[in-house]
Amino acid sequence: MQLSPMQSRLAASIIASCLLLAIYLFLFTPHFALAAEIGGASLGHSAERDAEFLALLDDEDSATPIGSRSPEYEPDFGLFDRSIIGRATEETQTLVNNEVREKNLDENSQATFVFQFSSISSREAGESGRTAELRKRSNGSQDQDVEVEEPNTDDADADADADADKDGEGHELRRRQSATKTLWITANTCLQPDRPVPDTTGEDPPQLTLYVSTSKDNQSPGPMAKGNQDTLLFEEGAVMYNTTVSGDVYFTVAAPFIKDTFTSKMYNFEVAVSVDQPYHYFDNTTDPNVNWVDSDAGAALLITGNLTDNPDTVMTEMPYSLFAYAQGDVSVLGVRNSYCGLGNYAQIGGNRSTLPKNMMSMGMTRRGEGNLTKQEFFFTGLNKSTTYQAILTTNPGFSSNISTSKRDTGAGSKKVVFRQTEFDTKSTGACMVISNLTFCDQVAYSVPGNETRFGSGKVEELKSFYDDYAQTMYKNFEKAMTTIPCDIENTSKYSLARNCDDCKQAYKNWICFVSIPRCEDYSKTDLFLQPRNINSTFPDGTTVDNMTLAEFGNQKAYNSSRRPDIDTVVAPGPYKEVLPCEELCYDIVQSCPASLSFSCPLPGSDVRVPGKDVFSSSYGQHRDGDKSVVTCNYPDAAHYRRSASAIVSLPWTMMGLLGGGALLLLL
Ligand SMILES: *[C@@H]1O[C@H](CO)[C@@H](O)[C@H](O)[C@H]1NC(C)=O
Ligand SMILES: *[C@@H]1O[C@H](CO)[C@@H](O)[C@H](O)[C@H]1NC(C)=O
Ligand SMILES: *[C@@H]1O[C@H](CO)[C@@H](O)[C@H](O)[C@H]1NC(C)=O
Ligand SMILES: *[C@@H]1O[C@H](CO)[C@@H](O)[C@H](O)[C@H]1NC(C)=O
Ligand SMILES: *[C@@H]1O[C@H](CO)[C@@H](O)[C@H](O)[C@H]1NC(C)=O
Ligand SMILES: *[C@@H]1O[C@H](CO)[C@@H](O)[C@H](O)[C@H]1NC(C)=O
Ligand SMILES: *[C@@H]1O[C@H](CO)[C@@H](O)[C@H](O)[C@H]1NC(C)=O
Ligand SMILES: *[C@@H]1O[C@H](CO)[C@@H](O)[C@H](O)[C@H]1NC(C)=O
Ligand SMILES: *[C@@H]1O[C@H](CO)[C@@H](O)[C@H](O)[C@H]1NC(C)=O
Ligand SMILES: *[C@@H]1O[C@H](CO)[C@@H](O)[C@H](O)[C@H]1NC(C)=O
Ligand SMILES: *[C@@H]1O[C@H](CO)[C@@H](O)[C@H](O)[C@H]1NC(C)=O
Ligand SMILES: *[C@@H]1O[C@H](CO)[C@@H](O)[C@H](O)[C@H]1NC(C)=O
Repeated sequence: MQLSPMQSRLAASIIASCLLLAIYLFLFTPHFALAAEIGGASLGHSAERDAEFLALLDDEDSATPIGSRSPEYEPDFGLFDRSIIGRATEETQTLVNNEVREKNLDENSQATFVFQFSSISSREAGESGRTAELRKRSNGSQDQDVEVEEPNTDDADADADADADKDGEGHELRRRQSATKTLWITANTCLQPDRPVPDTTGEDPPQLTLYVSTSKDNQSPGPMAKGNQDTLLFEEGAVMYNTTVSGDVYFTVAAPFIKDTFTSKMYNFEVAVSVDQPYHYFDNTTDPNVNWVDSDAGAALLITGNLTDNPDTVMTEMPYSLFAYAQGDVSVLGVRNSYCGLGNYAQIGGNRSTLPKNMMSMGMTRRGEGNLTKQEFFFTGLNKSTTYQAILTTNPGFSSNISTSKRDTGAGSKKVVFRQTEFDTKSTGACMVISNLTFCDQVAYSVPGNETRFGSGKVEELKSFYDDYAQTMYKNFEKAMTTIPCDIENTSKYSLARNCDDCKQAYKNWICFVSIPRCEDYSKTDLFLQPRNINSTFPDGTTVDNMTLAEFGNQKAYNSSRRPDIDTVVAPGPYKEVLPCEELCYDIVQSCPASLSFSCPLPGSDVRVPGKDVFSSSYGQHRDGDKSVVTCNYPDAAHYRRSASAIVSLPWTMMGLLGGGALLLLL
């Protein structure tokens, strides 16, 4: 065959190219071999190399889910590079700022997302006007070179701008070069594999994992990805990640291999990205804004702290929800930091629980010092002698300007889960929680009761029994007050700071808390508790032990209640009383006219009742240290955490002024 000059030139150049390629391959092949050996993220990719890389991983990291080697799944990870076959673009989902995405995830699979940095720059462009304005105030000749503005939205950046102005042009230039934003990636596990055995002997389902890459070279982060990435295991069903970004961010949620003992292998999760604040937030270190007030054998009352700073602030929207589970119930384990996980799995409040849905009711109250709004939670249908864990969450729809947002560390976050709070139930029906009393509106605790007599809807009768008595006593006192010119007396010689209303208020507090005893299980052994009604029989027909009866059975402080008709009308059986705090008594003495001649028993032996320690069976004292124990009863008394502010004992200067013949406030 005759070649044309053109064709022969082509042939020559092809031959030359082949020769060159041969020489090149001869010289440089060892480098490829080396690259294959280290299995690194070299530029070239080949099936063999990826296979070697897989093998390497499997050998050195036995923690890698075994199932990832299952034949049908391998192609997804290793043998084919996604960027070649285009899987990445198929599977990677784009998330924009403040978008929430929910997804199912089978075992051994993963979902990859990308947050495109460009999706926020248009919004930020709107901010450049403010930046320029700030800059105009600066003292520099270069004001005219305001051209490209860096992303910049929050207050911290505004402060930085002010600083930049002060520091001058050099600082400003530096800032311009390092234009970054904080990006939060947060996720919650909503559904997890069903555990084989519903008790603590079985293992918890494994947690999901989040992989994040900010590098263009690793656009599919994950367990098999080659390249820089951050790896975060979910903690109890939640993960929070933040990074400073100046480009696109790729992230993957990956489900591990699930053992066959689990009856389902599906996960469901919710993921969100935001440059404003973390969308999901959990806090397992700070004390939650909720305290356990009291409980009985089947109910418990919890209350938040003050939600406002001012009694005039009207707040009707409820900022929180509460979930709970009994100690030993495992259904919620694994998702305790997850907002949607709690909503599904919590024994009390969760969608999937077989328990009734109405076990917790909540509402707003102004009970307590300061007349400030609080949210309260009332659980019913609980088991006796059981420890429960309550988990506080924010309501996502909540948008008021409450003072709690200052203390909630996840301020601005939509779904916040706080650390769990423990409470337990009493062992018998001798104590019953009451609240919402008409007159004694500050009373919300466990009182001597009788479940047989006042259970199942008849609790209103018990409330009236206590409330009516206190109100009658108060009315009698009010009558007595009308005979005394207390206001004149007050301003002239008693106390400039207190008036008749203070005296009435102090008396009301005192009569309510003294005539409505706070009840504890008789089996509690704390020394500050006062045994009452010990000659009677327990609900189960047993009696207090012989020795105690022999020693204390004939003492009135032990064999009867403070108000004796409690023993006959309510018939609670033997119980122990958390005594009212001493300051309830001192407050009357300080607030009321001396002509009323009130006095309080003195701590220690009381001279007026020889041989009897009247004080210690009548009033309790705050103890230093552990505030989680209610050592005496007062409005607001709850099981506070150690860090709660100490109760300031009232200085009691009036004591010495009171002579004999005073009316001892005992009831
Ligand atoms: C502006 O800068 C000059 C020197 O750079 C200085 O003398 C002057 O006081 C500055 N003016 C203000 C308002 O800071
Ligand atoms: C970012 O995450 C780190 C831990 O990785 C944490 O210490 C820091 O407080 C977080 N920053 C913000 C602004 O959330
Ligand atoms: C508490 O505050 C509300 C609203 O300001 C007011 O109506 C109510 O009378 C106050 N209650 C007490 C006991 O001061
Ligand atoms: C909170 O942290 C403690 C240890 O600091 C841990 O024992 C507990 O399980 C954690 N709770 C949750 C819900 O993660
Ligand atoms: C509970 O179930 C209802 C109805 O199935 C659903 O609308 C709701 O979103 C679920 N709640 C949670 C927290 O999953
Ligand atoms: C008190 O009343 C509120 C609102 O009516 C209710 O939500 C709450 O459950 C009641 N508390 C008790 C202990 O009955
Ligand atoms: C609520 O506010 C009142 C008045 O400021 C204060 O005395 C009380 O201790 C506060 N309660 C709590 C639980 O912080
Ligand atoms: C009470 O105990 C029973 C039996 O152990 C259990 O099935 C139920 O879930 C428990 N209820 C609560 C509220 O703890
Ligand atoms: C919340 O704050 C905004 C501005 O500070 C105010 O206009 C609005 O009335 C407040 N809302 C409530 C419920 O206090
Ligand atoms: C509770 O009331 C019932 C019915 O009135 C009575 O039979 C029982 O003895 C009472 N319980 C105790 C512990 O006294
Ligand atoms: C002491 O208790 C026993 C039963 O434990 C009882 O049989 C006995 O009568 C009691 N003694 C007195 C003096 O009550
Ligand atoms: C209570 O029991 C003790 C001893 O059993 C007895 O001495 C005392 O009189 C009893 N008191 C009453 C009020 O029944």
